[in-house]
Parts: sequence; C-alpha cells; structure tokens
Amino acid sequence: MTKEEEEKEEEQQQQQEQEEMTKEEEEQQQEQEEMTKEEEEEEEEDLEELPWWKTSIVYQVYPRSFMDSTGSGVGDLLGIASKADYLRDLGVGAVWLSPVFTSPMADFGYDISNFTDIDPVFGDLQDFDFLLEEMHARDLKVILDFVPNHTSDQHEWFLKSVRREDPYTHYYVWEDPAGYNASGHPFPPSNWLSVFRGSAWEWVEERQQFYLHQFLAEQPDLNFRNPAVREEMKDAMRFWLDRGVDGFRVDALKFLFEARNAYEDEPRAQDSDVDDPLQYEFLEHTLTVDQPETFEALAEWRALVAEYEGRFLMVEVYADVNETMKYYGNESHPLADFPFNFLLIDSFQSRDNLTGESVMDVIDEWMTNMPEGKWPNWVIGNHDNSRVASRLGSDLVDALNMLILLLPGTPVTYYGEEIGMEDVFISWEETQDPRGLNFGPERYLEFSRDPARTPMQWGDEPNAGFSPANATWLPANANLTSLNVATQDEAEASHLGVYRQLSELRREVTFVRGDLAFPLVTEEVIAILRSYKRAPSYLLVINTSEYDVTVDLQQGTTLPEVGTVVLRSVTDTSDATMPGSKVQLSNVTLVGGEGIIFQFGQV
Ligand code: GLC
Repeated sequence: MTKEEEEKEEEQQQQQEQEEMTKEEEEQQQEQEEMTKEEEEEEEEDLEELPWWKTSIVYQVYPRSFMDSTGSGVGDLLGIASKADYLRDLGVGAVWLSPVFTSPMADFGYDISNFTDIDPVFGDLQDFDFLLEEMHARDLKVILDFVPNHTSDQHEWFLKSVRREDPYTHYYVWEDPAGYNASGHPFPPSNWLSVFRGSAWEWVEERQQFYLHQFLAEQPDLNFRNPAVREEMKDAMRFWLDRGVDGFRVDALKFLFEARNAYEDEPRAQDSDVDDPLQYEFLEHTLTVDQPETFEALAEWRALVAEYEGRFLMVEVYADVNETMKYYGNESHPLADFPFNFLLIDSFQSRDNLTGESVMDVIDEWMTNMPEGKWPNWVIGNHDNSRVASRLGSDLVDALNMLILLLPGTPVTYYGEEIGMEDVFISWEETQDPRGLNFGPERYLEFSRDPARTPMQWGDEPNAGFSPANATWLPANANLTSLNVATQDEAEASHLGVYRQLSELRREVTFVRGDLAFPLVTEEVIAILRSYKRAPSYLLVINTSEYDVTVDLQQGTTLPEVGTVVLRSVTDTSDATMPGSKVQLSNVTLVGGEGIIFQFGQV
C-alpha cells in the first residue's frame, strides 16, 4: 500500500467510525427523548392524581367589597358573577366567599340569622345558583364560610331560646348569675372576655340568665353539647353541599366549646403588656378555646363532607403551631384538609422582623410540625388583618405573592392583593367595624378591620368602578386613580401581570410535587429552590430589605453558574435581570423588596 492509499484507508475508517458514533448518539438521543416523554407523561399523571384543592389557588372574596351590581354601595352575588372571567384569567382555582347568609350585619355577615338563605343585600338563592353556575362553567370552585360557633341574636333559635321555647331552650350557653350585689344587680358567672372586648356574658332580663358570646353580644354562642344543635348545623352544611358548593371555610373553630364549669375564671396572661382588663389578650384562654370536644365536632363534619365527592374543608384557627396542627388530624383520623397557616401574618405584623432568616424559620416551622402526609398552605392576608402593602411594604407585594404561590402547598389570596391594594384610613365617624367601634375613638385605629375591607379597585372611575352609588359602605382608596385592575391590565409590567404569570407557572409539576430547599439564607435575602426529578428547577430569590443587595447565589451551593430570569418584581427596571436574560448566579442584584425567579436544568 502506498502512503497515499494508507491515508485514504485511514480516512475512510475514521469516517465509518464517525458515522457509527453518530448512529449510536442518535439512538441514545432517541432513547433519552423517549425517557423524557415517558417522564413527562408520568409527571402529567402525577398532577392528575391530586385533588383539585391541592393544585388550586384559593381566592378570598369579601362580598360587600368586590362588585356592586345594584348601586346599593354594597357588593353582591351578581356583582361577583360579573367578574367570573377576571377570576378565571387570574388563574385561581377556588373562590371562598365570606358569609353571604341572612344577617343583621352586626359583624357584617358573621352574625347569621338564617343559615340556609342569602341576605337580600347580596341577592337571593337564585342569584347564588347563577353565581355557582358561572363559576363552575369556568372550572372555578366555590367555597362558603361556615360559621358554627354562634348565630345572630336575631336568629329565630335565639329569640325562642330567650323565651325557653323547646326545643330551643338549650341551644345556647345559658348560665345563672354567680351572685347578686346589694341592689340586686347580677354578677356574670366568670371573668371570660369577648374577642371584641368586654365581658363574654350578657344578661337577659326576660330569662333571668346570662348567655355566652365569645364575639359580639349580637353573636350568642351556640351550645355544641346539645345534639340537636349539632344536627341543625349539619343540616345547614348539607343544604349547601346539595346545592353544589365545593367546600367550606369553617369560622372561629377553636371557640366551639368551653369548659363545662362556666364559673371558673381564666388566669391573667403571663408576659402580656396589655393592661386593659376588658381586652381579650388580658387573659390566658385556658377554658374557652381548643377544648377536646372541638375535634369530635370537626370529625363529624369531615365525615359529612366525605359523603360528597371532591369537597373540601379548611378551618380558621389562630393558635400556636402545635395546637393548630391538631386540626389536620392524622392518616387514620383525617380532620380538616388544612387549618389556615397564619404564620406569615402572625410573625410579620410589620417589616421590623422580616428577614431572610425569619422567613425561612416560618416556612420550616410549618413544614416540620405538619403531620405526616398532610398538605401545607400559606395565608398572607385576609379580612381581619392589615393588607400586605401597608403591613410590610408595597415594594414587597410581588415577592410575597411569589412566595406563597411557589411554596409547596395551597396559597390563599385575599381579594386585591394581586394588584397590591393598600389599607385605607377610615375616620372614627366613618368606622363600620364593630371591633374598632368597641375600642372608642382613641384606640379604634389599632383594632378596626375596615382599612383592609375597602372596595376592590377595578378602574379609575368614581368608587374605583366598584359601584355606581354616590357613596359606598366604605370609601375606596384615593390611590384608585393609579392603582387599579384596568391600569395594571394595560401596563407592560404590573403586580397583576406578575400574579397571572405566577398562577400559570405554579401549574408546573416542579411546584406541585417538587422538593423544597434553601440554598442561601442571609439577614436580607432568602433563596428558595424547587426541584422535581428531571423537570426544570426554579430558584426564587427575595430581598426582604428596603435597599439594593447583591448576592452570590453560587458560593457554597451546588447551583449552576447561570440561570434564566423567568419573572421579577415590577420595582426592578434594570436590563440585567430582564425576564429572559441569562444571569451569572454568582452576582445578582435585587432592589429593595424584590423577588426574582430563575430557571435552570436539573440540580
Ligand atoms: C372570624 C372571622 C371574623 C369574625 C369572627 C366572628 O375570626 O374571620 O371576621 O368577626 O370570626 O365570626
């Protein structure tokens, strides 16, 4: 063979080898593709297996303030129905309505005088059925507020109970006075206090007894030791389940039972700085909340709800984490699907203690205390608490929506938080909330819940497009001209836009099923990693401080060098972190209160 021939042969051989290589590679690639397809299918199945409430955002509507269809100045059911498309486009899966039942409105619907009808302020049963249809047609679930602890003092049961008319005589918690003073004035059985201030006991001349009210005097506590009461409340539940509602939020559950001996006093709260003896926090509540029988009643409701397919139960309990976890039940005795996780509210009443570290601690606290096999949830605001933008800072609105929507579990969003609504200053004269009113003109600002209950800001029209009335039950925020749905809808970057993208993003299996880790946590910053099998991983980075911070997200972590920005807070306008940009994770700058979401391959 000549040298030339030799070279030629070698070349040919090489070519052949290369072709074989490519073939092999191709086969490998094909195999891999098949794997990914298989995996994708598997992941889709993973999603399908879950009940709807595990993949949904729960959106809380305060019906008085969402949309007024009649011009009464108060929102109503048809108003809510007219916003069904908005809710669908927002990407939420379930709408929880604060109470819409017949009520004298002493506590704006939480004082119910008929559990199986709609208050005329909100509409009627026909309107309710229409709303349900509109929601269901858009694959939105409807959750009602179930208020078992008390009724209105105008409820027929109570009026008859006062008169000792059977079977209502023992429907409420009635007790004889502890004694009388020299002038014949009756003393209440014990020192128990109302959550809304003052004695929890109210004297009724006609019956010559006190009744218990853990909230307003207009909200007498039902006697859950009476089996007839238990049945009545179950009937009310059935009424709505039969009508097609998808579940309940159970109100004020921990107050359901009290100690049998109503003549025993509760002790003074230790380490409390409250010196007003009529304020609820003055006492330690050892006899009036979290009684063991509460869990029996809850188990009965769980069983009832389970008779219907695909229905859901979440419960309101403000308690320490250990106590709260009991409301989940366990594998063999399931109770609520979840008790609300109020840690993000309780721990962060102001920005003062909001740090990367404290946010991680709060997340860990829920995750590590939650019973095996249970599902977490995250609540950042509601009708009883100051709004996120006012409580923690408007610069944090997007970051905190990112947080609750991208953590494992079900997020709960209070209406208006998706556009970053703020508390409204309500003067003493305009104050509606009975809790505020009970503290008088000097102290009401600290306690009134009105500021967070103002009309939803739909547009820049008068009353923010919420109502055509001259005056609304609470005034709309003056910032409505710039802060509203219509403006944010059109803006290139907005809170609403971020929220919609988030609700879309969280459908990915990584967020539904993925693991949770904290690759970097400092005083200012928390980085939250979500990863699942071979699906893309996501890193949410939040700067909790009010100033710019630059972080090295790679140092000491196994994160890749580069991440692609998926989404960021509207407060950031720099080119470096524009969505779609590839960013060196070793050098990321976040403006104050900002959240950025990065995506990369498997880690
Ligand atoms: C719950 C509600 C609150 C209401 C109270 C009494 O805490 O969230 O708004 O005033 O119960 O029903």
